[in-house]
Amino acid sequence: MENSHQPLNRRRFLGTAAAAAACIASPVALVTRMAAQSPESRVDILLDEPVGAIAPEIYGHFVEHLGGVVYDGIWVGENSPIPNVHGLRKPLLDALKRIHPGMIRWPGGCFADQYDWRDGTGPRDKRPKRTNFWADSPDWPKDARRDGPERYDPNTFGTVEFARFCKQVGARPYFAANLRSLPAQEFWRWVEYCNSPANSTTLAGLRAADGEPDPLGVRYWGVGNESWGCGGNFDPEDYASEFNRYTAWVPSYATPPALIGSGPNGGNQDWTRRFFGKLAKAGTLDRLWGWAMHNYSWNASAGRTTDWNAGKRDALKFDTEQYYEILNAADEMESLIAAQWAVMAESDPRHRAKLVVDEWGAWYASGTEPFPEALIGQQNTMRDAVLAGLTLDTFNRHADKVAMAAIAQLVNCLQSLFLAHEDKFCLTPTYHVFDMYAAHRGARSVRTLVASPANRYDRNGKPATMRGLNGSASVTGSQLTLTVTNPSIDQPREAEIQVHGGTPRSVAGVVLAATDPRAHNSFADPRAVEPKTVAVTLKGSAIVHRFPPASVTKLTITVG
Ligand code: AHR
Repeated sequence: MENSHQPLNRRRFLGTAAAAAACIASPVALVTRMAAQSPESRVDILLDEPVGAIAPEIYGHFVEHLGGVVYDGIWVGENSPIPNVHGLRKPLLDALKRIHPGMIRWPGGCFADQYDWRDGTGPRDKRPKRTNFWADSPDWPKDARRDGPERYDPNTFGTVEFARFCKQVGARPYFAANLRSLPAQEFWRWVEYCNSPANSTTLAGLRAADGEPDPLGVRYWGVGNESWGCGGNFDPEDYASEFNRYTAWVPSYATPPALIGSGPNGGNQDWTRRFFGKLAKAGTLDRLWGWAMHNYSWNASAGRTTDWNAGKRDALKFDTEQYYEILNAADEMESLIAAQWAVMAESDPRHRAKLVVDEWGAWYASGTEPFPEALIGQQNTMRDAVLAGLTLDTFNRHADKVAMAAIAQLVNCLQSLFLAHEDKFCLTPTYHVFDMYAAHRGARSVRTLVASPANRYDRNGKPATMRGLNGSASVTGSQLTLTVTNPSIDQPREAEIQVHGGTPRSVAGVVLAATDPRAHNSFADPRAVEPKTVAVTLKGSAIVHRFPPASVTKLTITVG
């Protein structure tokens, strides 16, 4: 049946936009107004208002030599009884391939600024063993081994092993160079090892001896990591001088490097303003391709202080306040992007440099690690799935500003997509969100307005709110993908969805939900949380759908 499409009348559109604004300004007024109507929420998709192409690299991941991420998580070794491809855990490769990762960042994190790339070259059995940056972390569980590869890195996973990992799963590699403890020359030499043409240099010869005669074609290079913290405790001006020195000349070859500066910790605008100001003065802003921001989410009402343990709570046991506080913290991403973008424009009005959110995700207290060696490993519930959906929708809506992003970290650490130990392996709810959202990669993001009553809860005895439904939409050919999160801990929300500028002809739905937001997967119960197909109603030109509590939904709409 063909549906008649009503173009969005400007007055009605402004009314919708006002309702959306009211949702933020006065949730009570909006709830009252909506009580008289049905459904209570609206989603308006404006096909004629493109935001930009969603870079596949927004669907990126982070791999650090930290706890159980590399050794055991990804690298099991070629002689392992665990199924592997060139030493890489096969079930993880297969699952990762399915979600088409755009980019993977390596080798850290804080580890990157202690890492000597030469240690990870040459015959594997001759590589040096080194003390890992995280060896002395106060977060190690008491029963973790004291001498494993997570403390004394055997370097069996080096540059070519990581490059092969990326190739296997179809992702672009993104390397973080050591700015704190190696000279600038070692950065250029690492680029030469990776990218110089076959037979051209001594380092191309070393690469060939390591099994990769052809250039690895590494484009993305981070110049340090968290240079305001573990990356050297610089002030912005001193870091800018270092950045200038490290990037004064970087060999280009067939893959000119895209250089990424170590950006702010969350909302630190001063770091950005002063760094950009100094580069503008030196005339070197054109060297900067991307500006890396890190933003982790933890329980704000428990105190977001410089004592980073103060705000961390359990990953599995949480009350309503803790549930919403983490989601609210993650939802700050939108304002952080807007604020950073505005500060960047003060020195870079044409926005040559884009944002790279290369560490994001939930960070909980220790205690739910999948095994003792998985330092800062944690479990992952439906709450985290909602957090992932909220954040990816934010990136999609800001596709014109965000060029890359990486959730921290891929496996066995923080908000992981996988848990893996010895022969045990499982997918987390966060994995399923990436699977559902993969349809957005490379598609054209279009403006999407959501009006929905806010959720109300108690923060330290005072009333607080968390937004209602939210989402993002993108188009590829005649396929429109709409993803929606319902953060309410216990209320379903019904919404009318209107597509402006096209006519929906068919809709298919997939939902990730559970009766308890604490639901999660584990080695013992790996399929407790999985996406399911769901029936969706097409009423004339509108789609009406009920979104379950604490859920993530994808609607695939064929548009005529
Ligand atoms: O992801 C864990 C750590 O968090 C990274 O090493 C560091 O960059 C950040 O502080």
